Amino acid sequence: MNDVVTAASFRRKKEDGEKIAVLTAYDYPSAALMDEAGVDAVLVGDSLGMVVMGRENTLSVTMDDMARHTAMVSRAVSRALVIADMPFLSYHVSAAEAVRNAGRLVGECGAHAVKLEGSTDRIGEALRAVLSAGIPVMGHVGLTPQSILHFGGFKVQGREPQDAARILAEARALEAAGCFAVVLECVPAPLAAEITSALTIPTIGIGAGGGCDGQVLVMHDILGWGRARFAKTYADVKTAMGGAFAAYVREVKGGEYPAAEHRYE
Ligand code: KIV
Repeated sequence: MNDVVTAASFRRKKEDGEKIAVLTAYDYPSAALMDEAGVDAVLVGDSLGMVVMGRENTLSVTMDDMARHTAMVSRAVSRALVIADMPFLSYHVSAAEAVRNAGRLVGECGAHAVKLEGSTDRIGEALRAVLSAGIPVMGHVGLTPQSILHFGGFKVQGREPQDAARILAEARALEAAGCFAVVLECVPAPLAAEITSALTIPTIGIGAGGGCDGQVLVMHDILGWGRARFAKTYADVKTAMGGAFAAYVREVKGGEYPAAEHRYE
């Protein structure tokens, strides 16, 4: 648990049959606690847009947003792998722009790897250019939230046989291109298990069942904010925070806070 995690050691974990635990984080204190708790990787997800910035989807998250939060997280982490999401349009316009943006997340903000959404058919050139610059890349197939307008909502992908075959082919192509791992989001559990057996790189599932090599969840989804079927509340921090805020308001208004011990004489 104390070894520093690298993109290369991700692959060894799969070979050794060790499950990989990944959580998203967006700030220093949460990332520090996750690192201490033994997560293998902290993902600075562009879910930032929804769970921190109050947006409806991830499409408005910018490179400046990702850079700011990646720097906060990487400052807190000394052992886990820090993976930064490349936001919408930061790797779609040209391969050169993709390298510059991925390089910023690594060089300026301290990430150890980046994550790109989509198939090699759509992002292959950018993916190869980022890898050529020596930056490890995690792939992401199935439900890719940056394509939400195309999917028409957050829906399970790969239920139809032809879609399942396409997602398997996409995962294989990401492995062949050089990704060190691939996220499988919201796909049926049997398909995720099939992809996991077909690949030598680890699969990290979210809403993809227990047959993946590892799991990733959004931090807020384990702390009481989760609504998706795959979310599990490990601690109801949401209720605890709401209670603390209400108690503070009550005590200030009732004159109980500050008490004698909170005063300077
Ligand atoms: O942005 C994010 O948090 C993600 C995970 C849900 C995989 O991409």
